[in-house]
Amino acid sequence: MDALTQYLEGNREQFLEDLKKALRIPSVSTQPAHREDVRRCAQHVADDLKAVGMTRVEVVPTAGHPVVYAEWLGAPGKPTALLYGHYDVQPPEPLELWTTPPFEPTLRDGKLYARGACDDKGQVYMHLSALKAHMKVNGRLPLNLKVVIEGEEEAGSDNLEKFLRERRKQLDADVIVVSDTSMLAADQPALCYGLRGILYTQIEVTGPAHDLHSGEFGGAVTNPANALAVIIAALRDGDGRVTVPGMYDRVRALTPQEREGFRALPFDEKAFIHETGAPVAFGEKGYSTLERIWARPTCDVNGMWSGYIGEGSKTVLPSFAAAKVSMRLVPDQDFAELFPRFEAYVKKLASPGVTVVVKNLHGAPPFLTEPDHPMLQAAVRALARSWQKPPALIREGGSIPVMATFQETHGLPCILMGFGLVDDNVHAPNEKFSLTSFHGGTRSIAYLYEELAKGA
Ligand code: BES
Ligand code: ZN
Repeated sequence: MDALTQYLEGNREQFLEDLKKALRIPSVSTQPAHREDVRRCAQHVADDLKAVGMTRVEVVPTAGHPVVYAEWLGAPGKPTALLYGHYDVQPPEPLELWTTPPFEPTLRDGKLYARGACDDKGQVYMHLSALKAHMKVNGRLPLNLKVVIEGEEEAGSDNLEKFLRERRKQLDADVIVVSDTSMLAADQPALCYGLRGILYTQIEVTGPAHDLHSGEFGGAVTNPANALAVIIAALRDGDGRVTVPGMYDRVRALTPQEREGFRALPFDEKAFIHETGAPVAFGEKGYSTLERIWARPTCDVNGMWSGYIGEGSKTVLPSFAAAKVSMRLVPDQDFAELFPRFEAYVKKLASPGVTVVVKNLHGAPPFLTEPDHPMLQAAVRALARSWQKPPALIREGGSIPVMATFQETHGLPCILMGFGLVDDNVHAPNEKFSLTSFHGGTRSIAYLYEELAKGA
C-alpha cells in the first residue's frame, strides 16, 4: 500500500471526529434564528482549512452568510483546481421524527446520522481529510488549490455570484471540483454531468379579513384554502405534465443515445422506489424513472398551510392559505423567464373572491456538461483506482445553483464527484452518511488531486 493510502487508512477515526465537530453547529441558512450559528460554522471551517495547511484563509462577509475562501499555491507549473462546497444545511424539522437529535452526530450500524452528514459537510470534510493526508505524507499538495465553501447553497446561493465576479481573477483555475452529488449504488461510484435547475415560489391566497365561523359564513364567501386547492390541482394534468403555459417551450429533448445510456446504467429502479416507501412509481407518462428525475421538469408542493391544523376539530373558515411550490427545470429552461408566466397562470386560476400573490423565493439554472471532457478523465481514473471499477456517468435531479456560473461565466470544466446514497435521507429526518462512502470518498478525492496534477 502506498504511503498516502496508508495514512488515509490509519487516520479514519480522526477524520470522523473532525467531521462530527462541524456537524454539531446548526448552520441552517434559511432560518434567520440561526444566523450566528451559520457565521460560527464559517469560522470553524476556516480554522479547519488553516489546520490542514491551507494559506490565505478568509471568512468573507456577504450581504447574506459568509463565504469561506482558502488557497494553497505551492505547485508552480501544475494545474489549479477550485474546490466548491457548502457548509450550510437544510432545516432539521420535523424534529420529532429524528431517532437521535439532528445536531448530535451519532454513529449507528456504520452510518453517521446528523443534519449535513452527507449534504454537504460530510462531503466537504472528505476533501479536508484528503488534503490533510497529502500535506502530512508529502509536505505539500500535488497541485494548486483554491477553496470556496459557501453558506447559502440551501437558500439559493443569492450572494455567491457577486463574490465570484468580484474575485474573478483571484479565482482563476483549470477545473472546478465539487462533491455534493451521489453514487449510483453503495459500490458503484458515479460522475455527474447534469443537474436540474429550480424556480421556487410561494403562493399566498387571502379571502376574508379574518377567520370566520364556518357555519355562520361557510357558503357565503370564498374559502382561501379551497381556492388554493383549485390552483394546485390545476398545475399538473393526469399524465404528470406541468400545465403552466410555455413550460415545455425550451425543454431540450433527450437524444436516443442519451436515453439508451440511461437504460444501460446499473440502476435498480425497483429498489429505488422501494426505498422511498411509496407503493408505486408515478411521473410523466412516456418517461422512465431516471428520465423523469434527471431530464424532465416537475412542479411540486413543498409545503402548504391554512386554517386549523391542531388536534381535534375546529369549525373555521380560514382567511388565508399558502403553499411553497417549486419547479425543477432542465436545459434550456430559464427560471427568470418562467416566473412571470407562472405568476400570471396562477392568478388566472384564482377563484372569484380571493386575492392571490405569487412570490419568487429563488431560482437556479440547470447544468449540463460534456461527459467526455478530458478533465473528467482524471476523475474517472481516480474513482476506478479507489473502487476497483469505473464510475457510471449520470445526471441528477437536484440543483447546485453556482454550477452554471462556473460553467458559463468562468468557462471552466466541472467535476461533480459525490458519494451520497439513495437512502441518505438528505433534507429529511435521519440524514446520514455511510462510512463506506466517507472513507471511500476521501480516498477517491486524495487520488483525484494526484490524477489532476498529471494534467488533462
Ligand atoms: N446536494 C444538493 C444537490 C443535489 C441533490 C444534487 C440531489 C444531486 C442530487 C444540494 O445541496 C441541494 O440540495 N441543493 C438545493 C438547491 C436549491 C435550494 C436552490 C436543491 O436542489 O434543493
Ligand atoms: Zn441540499
